[in-house]
Amino acid sequence: HSPLQTKLLQMHQKACEIYVHMLKHTQVGQPALSYLQSRALDESLMDTFQIGFAPNERNFLFKVFTNDGYTFEEMLASGLFVQYGDNQLMDRFYQRIMFPIRNEQGKVIAFSGRFLPQANQVEDKEQPKYLNSPEGLLFNKRDVLFNLDLARSSIRKSEEVYLFEGFMDVISAYKAGITNGVASMGTSLTDQQLHMISRLAKEVIIAYDGDSAGQNATFRAIELFEEKTRLKIAIVSLPEKLDPDEYIKKYGKEAFYQLAVHGREGVFPFLMRYRKQNRHLGNEREQLAYVQELLMDLTRVDSVIEQDRYLNQLAVEFNISRDALQSQFMQQRRLNQ
Ligand code: UTP
Ligand code: MN
Ligand code: MN
Ligand code: MN
Ligand code: MN
Repeated sequence: HSPLQTKLLQMHQKACEIYVHMLKHTQVGQPALSYLQSRALDESLMDTFQIGFAPNERNFLFKVFTNDGYTFEEMLASGLFVQYGDNQLMDRFYQRIMFPIRNEQGKVIAFSGRFLPQANQVEDKEQPKYLNSPEGLLFNKRDVLFNLDLARSSIRKSEEVYLFEGFMDVISAYKAGITNGVASMGTSLTDQQLHMISRLAKEVIIAYDGDSAGQNATFRAIELFEEKTRLKIAIVSLPEKLDPDEYIKKYGKEAFYQLAVHGREGVFPFLMRYRKQNRHLGNEREQLAYVQELLMDLTRVDSVIEQDRYLNQLAVEFNISRDALQSQFMQQRRLNQ
């Protein structure tokens, strides 16, 4: 680390401690604490993930850091402040629940602040739900997976990693006993993230949100893992457009654990459902196009036994002779080679 980076790490550690204190031990933190409790986050989870609260003041952290003797340049470089006017700084995060983002060594290098919904107020469409630290000397978004430091030993042991969309999904899954979960924080996966995952695990289990954005992201993630890694891939499909956190809230930790561990599915069954979206399978042409796409997908399935099973399923579902499907599949495979 450069001397400046060391300083910036100190500042993040300090900010983290202050935000935690504000959440847990102050009056202004009370609404945030109640909100988190209403989301079924208990004290030990808050401690594990060092969740905090940035109060509704534009110079709260600024005053603390000025007192501590940090310079304008250091504060600006930290990303914890935004510049205004000529040479003025104010807090970047205020009135937000603070999720520290840690590097692989467990050091806080950035924050994501969640907008705190107020009583009698609809979600404010003016500001983002999660506000993230800007990239800088400590934080390169493309190199970071949320929670990789805590999840590492559990990933190593199980040789599996769960991939979630959001912070709250990782945290709630952790509570449910899935401690090998990480999140890509809402962006599409980078080469560096794919590399970090494949270095540690043999299998990735994609557990993105059940809404259509999550399903599309799952489809893209499958393509990336297949193209760039040799990992085995499984999918946890959530019903009713729920995300993992919402599923746990609604059906309980045990139900989620069962689904995530014993109810996960392979890539092909996911694609069978995914490719049905926006298709009118009552129409014969669309049916054939759908089957054709899936035969293409089936060439990516390694196991002959699995191929056989899926060919049977397609034959039954679309009332196509098994022989015809089989020869179409062989033809497809030759074309692909
Ligand atoms: P979601 O929109 O699914 O939010 O975004 P969420 O995680 O379910 O949030 P809660 O449960 O309402 O608190 C998934 C992830 O995308 C990133 C965050 O990492 C979030 O957890 N994201 C989302 C942002 O970075 N900025 C945003 O404004 C929204
Ligand atoms: Mn305290
Ligand atoms: Mn989502
Ligand atoms: Mn979500
Ligand atoms: Mn959510």
